[in-house]
Amino acid sequence: MNPLPGFRDFYPEALAVRRYIFDKWRDAARRYGFREYDGPPLEPLELYTQKSGDEIVGQLFNFVDKGDRAVALRPEMTPTLARMVGAHHRDYKKPIKWFAIPQLFRYEKQQRGRLREHFQFNADIIAETDVSADAELIALAIDTLRSFGLTEKDFVVRVSDRRVWQRYLTAAGIAEDKQYAAFQAIDKLEREPVEKTHEKLVAAGLPVHKVEEVLGIAAGKISPDAPELQQVLQKLGDLAAFCKVDFKIVRGLAYYTGIVWEIHDCKGELRAVAGGGRYDNLLEQVSGVSLPALGFGMGDVVLGELLKDRGLLPKSGGELDCYVVIADEALRAAALKLIHQLRDVGIAVDYALAPTKVGKQFQVAVAAGARFALTIGPDEWSTGEVKLKDLAAGTEERIRVADVAARLKKPL
Ligand code: HAM
Repeated sequence: MNPLPGFRDFYPEALAVRRYIFDKWRDAARRYGFREYDGPPLEPLELYTQKSGDEIVGQLFNFVDKGDRAVALRPEMTPTLARMVGAHHRDYKKPIKWFAIPQLFRYEKQQRGRLREHFQFNADIIAETDVSADAELIALAIDTLRSFGLTEKDFVVRVSDRRVWQRYLTAAGIAEDKQYAAFQAIDKLEREPVEKTHEKLVAAGLPVHKVEEVLGIAAGKISPDAPELQQVLQKLGDLAAFCKVDFKIVRGLAYYTGIVWEIHDCKGELRAVAGGGRYDNLLEQVSGVSLPALGFGMGDVVLGELLKDRGLLPKSGGELDCYVVIADEALRAAALKLIHQLRDVGIAVDYALAPTKVGKQFQVAVAAGARFALTIGPDEWSTGEVKLKDLAAGTEERIRVADVAARLKKPL
């Protein structure tokens, strides 16, 4: 039996990559002063049907549970966060800066970088209207990617502002509640033929003679007034070098209300690595508590592909400090005693559970990526010593049993 399409088995090598990514995410969030939270992976269906927009609702893993509740696996974290903060915001000093690394589920058409489950680094700020908060989140996303060794040659932050489009579309005669269809047409612009976009914009209520103008703004040939966007770039200082104003970005999710942005690989080969923006009305809609909010999500799948393409993934293995080679079964009990002493002081140690030829034990030590092989044999043991082999360097020394722990703890 295979896993379901779009779901991953994490064999140890894959899990090592996942952990590497999570560790960098957590460290970046910590450096920016965000606190970690989590919520349930299963939520009431209703949490998504009203607020997230048709695209994501069409991709829900939803069913009726045994208590007749309509439920869905979470396709994104933002509605859960809105619910949680709405319920307990009085317990926290504002602005609230929280992050999470949830596993999310979307019934998507499978393609490179798109699966039916993924992990997403979410960082959000609640109760801050100042554009500094938008800049802070973009800076966090940039610094997160920099911590993996990626540079401005690898990725670009494409920043935009939905209000620019809102103002434009309102002036063009499209009422605010009808604008979401136009946003979706613009959001899909890069992935659909221009005729299709044309058709969708007209269907959304845009006068035909305005279509060229919309395409001109999206292409960057016409520059509308975007004062807030300029402020964000200014606040980003040096990090603005990673950013590009791009009005093709409007984001697929319905709830965004202001600055929106996405991070893409510079070669344009992959789907977005991250996306986010301001969503000042969602908390009110979900929890009845009116608080401005903004945030982003960064997926592990696309990021993993990008790191692999650039050769930036660490080699897996090498987590074992020492493999103890038992050269004489008569010494097994003594070896075990030493093994436990080493483990007690935090050294990662493994050994053959059943009697095994010495050569084979060395092979296993090398395959496990151990730094050292420690041989316990009768000659040395009788003088209170063991043989320690540095498996990378190939050098061997005799050391006193009492000195082993200190020697293994010393960094290479
Ligand atoms: P999103 O753009 O839907 O935003 O997802 C954010 C990122 O998650 C994407 O850029 C992509 O890297 C990754 N991602 C999304 N779907 C998949 C998939 N099927 N397979 C692999 N990776 C995927 C949101 O979800 C917003 N809730 C983010 C946010 C937080 N906005 C404000 N706060």
